Amino acid sequence: MRLDFFVANSTGLSRKASRQQISKGEVTVDNEVCRKAATPIRTDQRVCWREQPLALPGERYFMLNKPVGVVSATRDRDHTTAVDLLPAELRPGLHVAGRLDIDTTGLLLLTTDGNWSHRITSPRYQCRKRYRVTLAEPLEQAARLKLEQGVVLKDDPQPTRAARIDAISEQVVDLTISEGRYHQVKRMLAAVGNRVEALHRLQIGPVELDPTLEAGAFRVLTDDEIGLL
Ligand code: URA
Repeated sequence: MRLDFFVANSTGLSRKASRQQISKGEVTVDNEVCRKAATPIRTDQRVCWREQPLALPGERYFMLNKPVGVVSATRDRDHTTAVDLLPAELRPGLHVAGRLDIDTTGLLLLTTDGNWSHRITSPRYQCRKRYRVTLAEPLEQAARLKLEQGVVLKDDPQPTRAARIDAISEQVVDLTISEGRYHQVKRMLAAVGNRVEALHRLQIGPVELDPTLEAGAFRVLTDDEIGLL
């Protein structure tokens, strides 16, 4: 959708007034002022007017219990995607807000609202994610302390932010992190000499995976859940 349509549809301003706001530099796209009314806007882009994030009416928001073998993408030549698990009429414009690896299961959020997904994925908001981690070895106390304080990952000198660990059993822990680096949980456990055998996301910010959703099933988010993030 063109930027002037986006601004008009999300604010209620006329197309002419929207174009004026754009040319005055009042509108940003992904934090950059954009003065071209015809700029095409993708669904994952963040549009703000006078520093307020804009959302189109009729945006859609879903949670999915992602099964193993499904990729967190919109399109893929070789694998079923998370978007493929929703009925065709709900798919247009959907993108994933916070990816999971192909072998990770659990809570995946899908939306058409780029501003909303930005709050989940941008490092600026430090959105918390809770994972149930099944380990190859019992977690030693020293390793637990290191993970809680922050560890240095392979090929990444910046230590991880403080994490929370809740033991579920000897080889199962809930790990809560507020970053989303590439393969972060697996690399954190590797950094303390352990290995992830299974990974399942239970929570993103305050939104928890609905325990009634079977693997592969989805539901619409409630207004409360949408508002919490
Ligand atoms: N960390 C990982 O290593 N994999 C995921 O899918 C999510 C977090």
